[in-house]
Amino acid sequence: MIDAARQRARELHARLTEELAQLRSRPAPDGTARKREVRLLEELRTLARRAELELRPSDTVRERLRTLQMRAADEIRFLRNWGANPLKTGAVAPSSQELSRLMAAYVEHERPGVIVELGPGTGAVTQALVDRGVPEERLVLIEYSPDFCELLKGRFPKAQVVHGNAYALGEVMDALGNPPIASVVSGLPLFTRPLPERQALMSDAMRLMAPGAPFIQFSYALVPAVKGLVGITWSTSRWVLGNLPPARVWLYRSATATA
Ligand SMILES: C[S@@+](CC[C@H](N)C(=O)[O-])C[C@H]1O[C@@H](n2cnc3c(N)ncnc32)[C@H](O)[C@@H]1O
Repeated sequence: MIDAARQRARELHARLTEELAQLRSRPAPDGTARKREVRLLEELRTLARRAELELRPSDTVRERLRTLQMRAADEIRFLRNWGANPLKTGAVAPSSQELSRLMAAYVEHERPGVIVELGPGTGAVTQALVDRGVPEERLVLIEYSPDFCELLKGRFPKAQVVHGNAYALGEVMDALGNPPIASVVSGLPLFTRPLPERQALMSDAMRLMAPGAPFIQFSYALVPAVKGLVGITWSTSRWVLGNLPPARVWLYRSATATA
């Protein structure tokens, strides 16, 4: 048993050493992203070495190795997507657990219908929704990156994962037969799109939801990403300082039914 665990740790250590060498030999389009990726791999490699060398690796080391391995895999995937398309990915790391939980806390799942998540990425907020008791079957996840979509399908096999453009929300929901929507949760980097597009997305979401249902968005900005729409109000949460970068949640609602 212990030998097998040690063997796995040894193999992981060797693989990480190889990955680090390859990473360092590739040109770095962005210095900060490179440093972050190197740091994550090094941290993992140290833990793998400890797990290999400890006569009987303590539960703490094993547990830390497992958690960090999962987190590092997501962070590296995120960084690589960001490197390939910074404007679309919109962040260098997935939302922290605290921000994800805060987003999920605003979802009104007692309303009838599906919960639509726009730009779920690696599923940080999705996981918080499931942890809050939202059944996977009620989730519609609209994600632009094919890589993230594959990951989401594996992690949330009962959710509907739509590989597509969240700004075409009306068309996506049409194709799904227009189920009622209880809440919309969004991690989209809204500021990378012109204001009229953001307004059109918000109007579509409000038209598809019952009056008063929430559109939940996180943002790093000091000002609202969507403004100038008659009948739509917004409020903000506290700042989540531990997120990278610090973020807060914006809650938009429509007072009346929109056409
Ligand atoms: C800032 S990340 C947030 C990811 C995740 N919600 C989280 O909190 O960790 C933005 C996500 O939106 C996705 N995205 C960007 N533009 C999109 C679009 N037009 N349609 C669907 N997804 C999009 C990106 O691929 C990325 O996964």
